[in-house]
Amino acid sequence: MVENSQVQLVENLNLTTPGLNRFVKPNDISKLVAEYGTPLYLVDEHTLHSKVRELHSSYARFTGPVKIAYSIKANFSPAILRAFIKDGISFDLTSIGELNFVKQCKGDPENIIYTSVTEEPEEYIEVLQSGVRRVVVSSFNGMTSLAKAASKLGVKPQTLIRVNPEVGVKAEVRASYRNGKFGVPFNGGTIDSATKMVKHLMGNELLKFEGFHFHLGSQITEFSCYTHAVDKIDAFITKMKKEYPNFQVNTFDIGGGTPVFYNEPVPTPAQMAENHIGRLNQLAETHGKFELIIESGRFLVAESSILVCRIVNTKEYNEHKIVIVDGGYHLLLDAALLKQEYPQEIVPIADNKKRVTTTTTTQHLIAPKNIHLAGRLCDTYDLFPLSKISSLNDSHVGRYVTFYNVGAYSVVFNMPFHCQTKPPVVMKTSNGDFKLVRKGTSYEQLFIEEGGDIA
Ligand SMILES: Cc1ncc(COP(=O)(O)O)c(C=O)c1O
Repeated sequence: MVENSQVQLVENLNLTTPGLNRFVKPNDISKLVAEYGTPLYLVDEHTLHSKVRELHSSYARFTGPVKIAYSIKANFSPAILRAFIKDGISFDLTSIGELNFVKQCKGDPENIIYTSVTEEPEEYIEVLQSGVRRVVVSSFNGMTSLAKAASKLGVKPQTLIRVNPEVGVKAEVRASYRNGKFGVPFNGGTIDSATKMVKHLMGNELLKFEGFHFHLGSQITEFSCYTHAVDKIDAFITKMKKEYPNFQVNTFDIGGGTPVFYNEPVPTPAQMAENHIGRLNQLAETHGKFELIIESGRFLVAESSILVCRIVNTKEYNEHKIVIVDGGYHLLLDAALLKQEYPQEIVPIADNKKRVTTTTTTQHLIAPKNIHLAGRLCDTYDLFPLSKISSLNDSHVGRYVTFYNVGAYSVVFNMPFHCQTKPPVVMKTSNGDFKLVRKGTSYEQLFIEEGGDIA
């Protein structure tokens, strides 16, 4: 009876707590961990589709065509790729490995935009051989490599230039800053500048100039950087048109950055789009219609997934409580790297009673700020920052902890630090079934991967 009312309480919270996607009921969590153990990732297919719709509709006021491109670096789970292929969206890829994944999932190469950092000639041969025709080049050498590959294969790829607009970005991860790694500045390089690269592309027999790309950062919460970057693009197009009267941008890709709720409320994609959509329409009006590409990794997948861990130990001293779970930053790297405050809560599970040990029951109330959530790694950084909406009441051994909004940049970083294996991933499909979409790995597999079978 007590257990049931706890379950009810958590389900009701769903309606009031912002940003948490409780797509699995505590009873289902109980069943799933009984079958697959912990740690366990759970993914909600319905959320993936609804995020695509939300992002797309946010840009409905743009006067030209809009494409959403999923940045698969955020999460390359084939089950997630297949879900997005059903939605007919595009894919933003950055490696041959990612290309291989999309091909194996039967993604259409027409829907791929390929943006490499390495830009090697062999890489571009493979990219073009796969039927990809939209490529973003980020350096003069890269453009030359693409031209060589195009010449070898007798195709003429649509070529976008990745510019670094060097605007100030207020974000968790900044990708545009002066003399940065990504893209080229408008001016300044002997060969590595948008000016030089456009000149080279005009009338080029091997490559067709298609447009521009920039990516300003991830988890961007203040959007003036987009307007500043578009202003700079506008001025640059005006300058190029003076030299090349027929200069035409067909595609403009404004990269990723749509934010996700972790600790603080963040603007919606509609609010984000509202910031720069007028400016983009103005750009199209001044310089001619173009297709707008919105890339997104984090927003499309973060809220689709939770990680379930089990509390395996606790200790208390000086009015503080350390709660140790069987996960760690090897499963949620950004908790250590970016101090990402994933929201967490203790799950009341119907059959949890059996697992609760009596030896570690809290004797007195510990202030929530003195409850520390720690991972199982023997590493100082393996402490999980708490979100403002985290709730760790009843954190006893045997209880489960859910980490919310972990779909982006977490599963992809799973690593075997301390000989840890990869947890299974279960998807709640759109029709409500639970389906194992990644088997967990075993110590035997890990031993072999590490060369244990080579005597
Ligand atoms: C070129 C490019 N586009 C898009 C993204 C996705 O960004 P986000 O996950 O913030 O949407 C990234 C992330 O690193 C990126 O490098």
